[in-house]
Amino acid sequence: MEWILLNDQLIKEEQLTISKEDRGYQFGDGIYEVIRVYEGELYTMKEHMDRFYESADKIKLVIPYTKDVLHKLIYDLVEANEVVNGYIYMQITRGAAPRQHQFPEQASPVLTAYTNLVERPLQGMRDGVSGKFAEDVRWLRCDIKSLNLLGNVLAKQEAIAEGCFEAILHRDGTVTEGSSSNVYGIKDGTVYTHPANNFILNGITRRTILEVCAEVGVPVRETAFTKSEALEMDEMFISSTTAEILPLVSMDGKQIGDGTPGATTRKLQQGFERKLGLKTPVHV
Ligand code: PDD
Repeated sequence: MEWILLNDQLIKEEQLTISKEDRGYQFGDGIYEVIRVYEGELYTMKEHMDRFYESADKIKLVIPYTKDVLHKLIYDLVEANEVVNGYIYMQITRGAAPRQHQFPEQASPVLTAYTNLVERPLQGMRDGVSGKFAEDVRWLRCDIKSLNLLGNVLAKQEAIAEGCFEAILHRDGTVTEGSSSNVYGIKDGTVYTHPANNFILNGITRRTILEVCAEVGVPVRETAFTKSEALEMDEMFISSTTAEILPLVSMDGKQIGDGTPGATTRKLQQGFERKLGLKTPVHV
């Protein structure tokens, strides 16, 4: 049985009980993070911790531990479960209280975290994946990594039902992000991606990629593009903690570029691996 984190205690999974009135369960009143573990090491942990505390702050939830204490607890969890390659899912809710919409006067936040083993999606990274446009019907605070993911869930399901890997969201024709990823287009060697404002989650992978672009000399413009501009891109790709950089080779059944992963995307995949010191190269 796996160890999980409940508040500041490591417990066995079967010992976990969550109240029927937990506000995460009833309202999605909480926030989360997904953190990658490669070869037993936590990656971009500081950035994930910072975003966790920022998201909490934005929903006026006070995390009752310092970042250092929580970091140590997460590290202990990874060690207890002997995670080599995998991820940590961590969330905090506003806690349990009789159901009413406003914040309860007396409730303690409930923090849970667990680990899962997962390998890098090497095949998708090499061959690319397909996308489907879906209307972005989410709220206007997508910068918060909130537990409320119904808009994302419905869009992803729409894409999967059509045999596509990811839903690429748009607001009135302007591409924002994927249902669980950030989105990029490459035209004449320049990378375009939606600015990090309230319409998207500022992905940690996104931030790493923008650094890689600077390091390998690929120009970036944090400028949104439209659906029709997307179809005219030379290359597209998506990114997330678990997906890293996945080339997007078709949208709504139409090829992007020549329908295969492009040279700039591959260069960024290699730069990303170098930056993180990953041992198995996608491209040999
Ligand atoms: N999702 N945008 C959305 C809507 C996301 O859900 C995610 C990540 C990202 C990429 O963020 P990052 O690079 O920090 O993982 C962008 C996680 C992995 C998930 O919900 O599983």
